[in-house]
Amino acid sequence: MKLRLAILGILLLCCSCAETEHKPAQYKIGVSQCANDMWRQITMIQMEAEVTKHPDITLISKIAYNNTQEQVKQIRELIDEGVNLLIVSPNEQIESITEITAEAYRKGIPTVIWDRKIDSDEYSTFISADNYEIGTAVGRYISANLAPGSTILEISGLESSSPARERHQGFIDAIQGKGYIVRSIDGNWIPDVARARVEDIGLFEDIDLVFGHNDDMTIAAYEVISKYSQEDADRIKFIGIDAIVGIDAVIDGRLDASFLYPPGGDFVVKTAIKLLKGEQVEK
Ligand code: FRU
Repeated sequence: MKLRLAILGILLLCCSCAETEHKPAQYKIGVSQCANDMWRQITMIQMEAEVTKHPDITLISKIAYNNTQEQVKQIRELIDEGVNLLIVSPNEQIESITEITAEAYRKGIPTVIWDRKIDSDEYSTFISADNYEIGTAVGRYISANLAPGSTILEISGLESSSPARERHQGFIDAIQGKGYIVRSIDGNWIPDVARARVEDIGLFEDIDLVFGHNDDMTIAAYEVISKYSQEDADRIKFIGIDAIVGIDAVIDGRLDASFLYPPGGDFVVKTAIKLLKGEQVEK
């Protein structure tokens, strides 16, 4: 009897050893997305594609649909679910998001801030294209193509988010000395908001160029203006950023130009995996 029990014990031990040997360590990466437009859907596809190369990693993503409070709640849920690493694309540069991401970081969860900034340096690394530089590129293009003294309608992204502020500043710095009249409205990054605010303007005869901080808002502006006056829509130059939904619009002539803002979801996950493996990552 004792011998049988001992053999059973050894067998059970072997089975459990075999199980742990074949089952790779599991890591959970939590992704908090502030919105779900085409640009973000593409980043998610890139992230998921990158993760499939690592069977030991799963991605848990939550989308806040442009709602800061909802995003804070979702980041809290990801922390409570025990994610091993957090990737956050913050809706705004605001205290509530800064606090929750810093809290995760202080708890020892490597935290990647991506695309939009927070108000602290309590994170592992920040990844983004240079938004000031993109604004400057737009401003240089406009300076080379638009007569001095013309009127520009700027449709800003959410003014409390860093890419909107930086794109605006780069653009303003680059058009210095051209005597342009710049009218700015906040489109919150959301085409429906931009549509409503452009509609409120009502008369478009004195607008020569529309610069929207993303293609979605710029196309919405084109649609509103063409509804009231196709002549104005044809005369006004429309310029956007992202070069995703904007590509077709440039080809069919609704947009004059779109500037690339690379999504880079694969790069974000590659960096996250380096952090998970304890490799050095530039902050
Ligand atoms: C997508 C988006 C992009 C823009 C980026 C800035 O949600 O609005 O269109 O380039 O966010 O953070």
